[in-house]
Amino acid sequence: MNESFKKLLKQKNLCPVCHAKKLMASTKIHVNGADRFSNGVALTPPMGWASWNLFRHNINENIIKEIAAAMKAAHLDELGYQYINVDDCWMSSVRDENGRLQGDLATFPSGIKALVEAVNSYGFKMGIYTSNGTLTCEDLPSSLYHERVDAETFAEWGVEYFKYDFCHNEPIPTLAPEIEKVLIAKKGETEFITLLAEEAELRGDAEIFEDERLTLTGKYISGLSNASGTAIFYDIEIPEEGEYTLTLGIRKAVRKDKYCEIIVNGKDTYSFRIPGSKGFTREGRNQTQVYFRKGKNSLLIHNPIGSRMDSAARQYQNMGKELMRATKKVAEETGKPEKPICFSICEWGWNKPWKWGSTAGNLWRTTPDIRPEWASVIGIYEATVRLYEYAGPGNWNDPDMLEVGNGKLTENENIAHFSLWCMLAAPLILGNDIRSFIKEDGSVDYNNKVLKIISNQKAISINQDKLGMQCRRIKTNGITDVLVKPLENREVAVCLLNKGNSSKDVSFSIKELTELMYVELPKADRYTVYDIWENTTFVAGNEISANLNGHSVKLYKIRAMG
Ligand code: GLA
Repeated sequence: MNESFKKLLKQKNLCPVCHAKKLMASTKIHVNGADRFSNGVALTPPMGWASWNLFRHNINENIIKEIAAAMKAAHLDELGYQYINVDDCWMSSVRDENGRLQGDLATFPSGIKALVEAVNSYGFKMGIYTSNGTLTCEDLPSSLYHERVDAETFAEWGVEYFKYDFCHNEPIPTLAPEIEKVLIAKKGETEFITLLAEEAELRGDAEIFEDERLTLTGKYISGLSNASGTAIFYDIEIPEEGEYTLTLGIRKAVRKDKYCEIIVNGKDTYSFRIPGSKGFTREGRNQTQVYFRKGKNSLLIHNPIGSRMDSAARQYQNMGKELMRATKKVAEETGKPEKPICFSICEWGWNKPWKWGSTAGNLWRTTPDIRPEWASVIGIYEATVRLYEYAGPGNWNDPDMLEVGNGKLTENENIAHFSLWCMLAAPLILGNDIRSFIKEDGSVDYNNKVLKIISNQKAISINQDKLGMQCRRIKTNGITDVLVKPLENREVAVCLLNKGNSSKDVSFSIKELTELMYVELPKADRYTVYDIWENTTFVAGNEISANLNGHSVKLYKIRAMG
């Protein structure tokens, strides 16, 4: 690249690799240029139950089996609830002799594989949890740096949902190593090809510097940090196709951890995590096995991580890939049908996961943890309602697991919470004690108010609508909101919400809905309006208004007549 062009790119803050705006380059193109994550599951928002909201760390294998039995007895499977997810604290504090995670030796003594089989025998799929960090939030072993073995373990156990938290995360360094040379040797042989710093084509901020303490030529490549520089070696002549040992010769200088990736022939990526330098000599070695074809090959070296967001995206993408790889591998090895793992990203919205979540997993938390209090439910709703454009079949915003039936939420609040999650096309992961729906004689307590809410089929059908569109807020005065969710068959769901403490009148016009670009409701003289919580139907011309108590909703499904 000529100097003036390089300067122009820098001036305009354009990426040296793809010439897009730098911000885009680091977050959208290099990292999020990854394909959409698509494993064929969660085409509608996932539904199930998880242990955290109610049980916290006090779980054991019997509780999980009791919940599965209660869910089956209450026919929740028939309503679409299919996952039973064991959250934090299922694992022992020690990995087994093969470096694999294992169930807590006292509270999950039969092992997780046996528990998966038990949960499956009730007709449910089992979910499991670790963190994208060195430990879980409860300080137990986790999957960062163990992605492959853990993904394989879960797939071998037959797990079908995986929640990946963000506690004890270690970000990928944005700093890149300085490269003195690259050595390539056929596996098992001592002769090698040497690529020198000066032979690389440098792009962006990459530059050659000199350090006489380096023994070969004294020259090295710097400026590869922060997704802003690239070094490429072209026309590397390889005599025979196969596996080679690639040694990255670096200049040891800075005490901070470093990271870079090598892309071979534009497709295979190899990552290097390099510890901060403490050694005596100037020259460091970092090795990996790479695959070369016969004839000319190319090597691109860069650090595509320009921010914390890039780092989080990349780490979740890595795990997503490992999960897909692992379930395929298990299917091939056993000859049984593949059991894809629904991948739940639990990054709390810190690094805008809605912007990259669909390249990494099936759903992503939009906020920190929910609590069974109105203020928490509304706070999370407010943060998530704006993110409608990111949700769709296979990839969802996740405003966290339901608190319906927990804490001191009133009946109105429980109904509002459930309705909002339905409108948001949110995962419906229950968090209450399902066993409380079952009477002592084993029969189901169909009068249980919480059971009535979570098993309202019409509300669930709004959530599970095949279009997979999240609602949009079309009106608000700060206290009352009007939400609209387009549905299949030219129908539409409307939710009126009163966030305040005292009662309020809320109204909307159906004609206005028909004029919204994203709504397919036909213009008509009369509409059938179904009131979901009253279980009544009425006919409306245009204006609908209702008086709502504090902390409550009205939920309607509307269809044109005639
Ligand atoms: C985090 C998550 C919660 C739960 C706990 C478990 O706080 O956001 O949903 O999984 O960890 O420790």
